[in-house]
Amino acid sequence: MIYLNGKFLPMEQATVPVLDRGFIFGDGVYEVIPVYSRKPFRLSEHLSRLQHSLDGIRLQNPHTEAEWADLIERIIELNEGEDQYLYLHITRGVAKRDHAFPRAATPTVFMMSNPLLTPLGELLVSGVPAITARDNRWGRCDIKAISLLPNILLRQLAVDEQATETILLRDGLLTEGAASNIFVVKDNLLLTPPKDHRILPGITYDVVLELAKAHGVPHAVRDVPESELRTAQEIMLTSSTKEVLPITRLDGQPVGNNGAPGPVFHQLNQLYQAYKQEVMRAHVPH
Ligand code: PDD
Repeated sequence: MIYLNGKFLPMEQATVPVLDRGFIFGDGVYEVIPVYSRKPFRLSEHLSRLQHSLDGIRLQNPHTEAEWADLIERIIELNEGEDQYLYLHITRGVAKRDHAFPRAATPTVFMMSNPLLTPLGELLVSGVPAITARDNRWGRCDIKAISLLPNILLRQLAVDEQATETILLRDGLLTEGAASNIFVVKDNLLLTPPKDHRILPGITYDVVLELAKAHGVPHAVRDVPESELRTAQEIMLTSSTKEVLPITRLDGQPVGNNGAPGPVFHQLNQLYQAYKQEVMRAHVPH
């Protein structure tokens, strides 16, 4: 079952008018929220980022946080699977085609849930290959916009090379992945770029940094030059669906000494998995 504009209904029965600005312009924002043991992970952080995205496109939030929490609870109930991948999407609604905002339009609100398939154990043992490309996206990458054409084209470059992710470089600096945030380990220091308009403020990114801080993993949030990426001891990506995943080949070259997942990855992944369990056990429903 999916949710569309106030109704829960089977996916096959859900339709959106062709003049929806999401369809015509990609004029909308979205969220992906992981659900573990039927409980949404870091819900208030995801809803805060949603608010940030809505503010960024000057669209009023159609729901309060409590309403979102209720809708999310319902959609989880209506779908199978202990672990789910919740997709939430808001567009500026249906209006005659004109770039400028319509005077009066009701936002379209859509939610669906699919089984969450986090990376298999084998990938955590072998790591995954990545390639690099020039980050040619717009200047507001902090908005989780549904208009993802640059990300799609960049991610396909990786698929074309049998790689898992495309790591992006802007003006000689690491930004993020086409659909993930990136961390590197250089001189035994965990490094990641700061959250600004150049990257999506990842929820998993925040969790990893919090865990690094709490457990004394040496780390710094600062610009990461391309040279540090290319000579890194370890590289890893983070996202809600891939969690923490080691990158062991970059542009066909092994990462670090041996192209195998390194000790910092192992520590962070272990901390992340333990944290997930802890949060789910302590979860207090709304
Ligand atoms: N993508 N950067 C980009 C460009 C992303 O698309 C994503 C996530 C992230 C990681 O953010 P988070 O840790 O909050 O998932 C970073 C989601 C999973 C997607 O579009 O499917």
